[in-house]
Amino acid sequence: MLLSALEKNLNELNQTIKNKVGSHPVLLLISGGVDSTVAGALLLKTLNSDQVHLMYMDTGLMRKNETTAVRAILEKLGAKNIHIVMCENEFLSALKGKTEPEEKRKIIGDLFITIQEREVARLGLPQDYFLAQGSIRADFIESGLTASGLTANSEKKANVIKSHHNVASPLVIAKREAGKILEPLAQFYKDEVREIGRYLGIDEEIVSRHPFPGPGIAVRILGEVTKEKCGILREADAIFIEELKKRRASSGDNPGKSLYEEIWQAFAVLLPIRSVGVGDGVTDGGRRYGWVLALRAITSTDGMTANVYPLETRDLLEISARITGSVKEIGRVTYDISNKPPATIEWE
Ligand code: XMP
Repeated sequence: MLLSALEKNLNELNQTIKNKVGSHPVLLLISGGVDSTVAGALLLKTLNSDQVHLMYMDTGLMRKNETTAVRAILEKLGAKNIHIVMCENEFLSALKGKTEPEEKRKIIGDLFITIQEREVARLGLPQDYFLAQGSIRADFIESGLTASGLTANSEKKANVIKSHHNVASPLVIAKREAGKILEPLAQFYKDEVREIGRYLGIDEEIVSRHPFPGPGIAVRILGEVTKEKCGILREADAIFIEELKKRRASSGDNPGKSLYEEIWQAFAVLLPIRSVGVGDGVTDGGRRYGWVLALRAITSTDGMTANVYPLETRDLLEISARITGSVKEIGRVTYDISNKPPATIEWE
């Protein structure tokens, strides 16, 4: 979008939001991703900050330091009413002993809705508050809804490979029916949302963040999710991402850019296998069994298809050595070299 077109779009959008909301309170559900952060920035820019309530749930399934970072971003944007809900224990208890990917997704989606409704009720907002979401154009297409909220293609839903829980909680449906839903980014594509975010002064680090699935690292810990495994995966993933940010791409479309910028999505996956290894030869020379970690990095335009990013061997070796050197529970690192199709991007 040209700057002038962007400004015109935003001016129109600001006016539409103001006209629709008036002086009613607005509650925005924040996930920590690009879309809801940009939606938050837009609301804070347009409305009175006393009017805007931002709710974020720390499920314990987020990336390293995510909650602290989310709070800092929202404060920087001028938010006054930030409601952070700490619910790690509830999620981990519900996931105890569960190993089936779709069952895990359903447990997380349902619990998310239950806690969200409970916490929203606790805020005690007046009945006629507006509920805002950071949904973008692709969310409506993927979930079989149109931007006006009507079911456009129900067969499409039957074909989804993995269930998504982003758009249609009972609260959202009720608010939509009451005409009290606000989705300021519904007409925009991801690239445009990023541009709007930059224009509104959101840090590049957040605006260019890779996509992150709703169920979080629960679908990146294959099999049962435990607090210990979440900790191991979070550490390894943070190292992988940090390395991709500091290393430059030597080829590809944009030589000189960081690998992170070249890649569409990258993350670590903790496999439910332990494999034999040897001690470091100094403290002990004996056999030990460490977890196996897979690294995934892909290029894509919309996540529907994906190609493996051809990381240089040297980068892979150095990143692997740093991970096994720092996260002692991990004994072996592999690189996922499967495109989508046939593989999906996430492992579960
Ligand atoms: P797959 O694994 O289906 O992923 O190839 C395509 C894109 O969708 C993300 N993904 C999810 N996002 N809830 C979400 O909000 C989910 O359950 C979910 N599963 C996958 C994935 O990270 C990738 O960007």
